[in-house]
Amino acid sequence: MTVTALVSAKSCGVTTSALALTLASSRPSLLAECDPAGGTVRAGLFEGRVDASYGLYHLAAAERAGDDALAHTFASHLIPLDASGNRKVLPGLTDPGQAAALGRTWPALAQVMRVLSDEGGYDVVIDGGRIALESGNLHPVLTPAPLLHGADLVLLVVRGTKQSLSLARHIVEPLRSELAERGSGADALGLLLIEDGAVRAHEVADTLRLPVLATLPFDPETASYLTYGGPPPRSKRATLLARARTAAEDFRAASSRRALQRQYPQPAAAAYPQLSGVLQRLNQGAGSRG
Ligand SMILES: Nc1ncnc2c1ncn2[C@@H]1O[C@H](COP(=O)(O)OP(=O)(O)OP(=O)(O)O)[C@@H](O)[C@H]1O
Ligand SMILES: [Mg+2]
Repeated sequence: MTVTALVSAKSCGVTTSALALTLASSRPSLLAECDPAGGTVRAGLFEGRVDASYGLYHLAAAERAGDDALAHTFASHLIPLDASGNRKVLPGLTDPGQAAALGRTWPALAQVMRVLSDEGGYDVVIDGGRIALESGNLHPVLTPAPLLHGADLVLLVVRGTKQSLSLARHIVEPLRSELAERGSGADALGLLLIEDGAVRAHEVADTLRLPVLATLPFDPETASYLTYGGPPPRSKRATLLARARTAAEDFRAASSRRALQRQYPQPAAAAYPQLSGVLQRLNQGAGSRG
């Protein structure tokens, strides 16, 4: 299936959109909350019910113990997002200071995402947080660059406002060249537009010189539930989730088009055969704890 990474210039709705896409996917799905600035799902949607003994930070130590340990730890740190357990989340860092420890873990995690997508049939959504730059390049600690390299699509989340676009335009070129030089190609980059503001999709695309691959509605009620928890919105009014389902399909189609157009190098799962252990473990239902 598709590995989609979401990033922003500044707090546009990355986490909310990533949750909506994961919940709305018609396939088994996984949200990996990999924002180096820290995760918000634990204190937000989960309202503090998932403690710090679960989550991304624990994968750093596991990776040092080897791929097999990483595969097994990964599976046991996923939290179900729904009763079926087909939608899961890897909760993010509880402290931004933990990000440095993940530096050498990202490449192996990128492989785990590929195995889940290519062999496990999962739609994987990565919350990559805000893009931080250093000397015009992606910051090595504050941006999980290897996850972006390994993704089928990297979506810059923007709103249709002048404020959002004026910040986003500074990170388009660094992202484009990063993906061209180290990722699967500059054409992995596209926009996810949140329909907030007066700027139309075609103007957004022209301004940032990137295609708008999908749009999501401005839906404060559903967004508030995804951001803070509380009672779920009544399904008829949850336009964000309905439109997220369409967006997930649009991303799958865009990713398939890319794969057809060019044989971009897929990080070979065979390079990490131990990682197939993550699928066995998930299929056994391990780690299904809420
Ligand atoms: N589609 C939407 N409709 C209405 N409000 C939204 C939507 N998406 C996000 N929001 C709201 O915008 C705010 C920021 O959203 P969110 O936390 O998802 O952004 P973020 O890009 O992950 O931010 P950060 O970089 O700080 O982690 C939240 O209050 C959220 O409820
Ligand atoms: Mg966020």
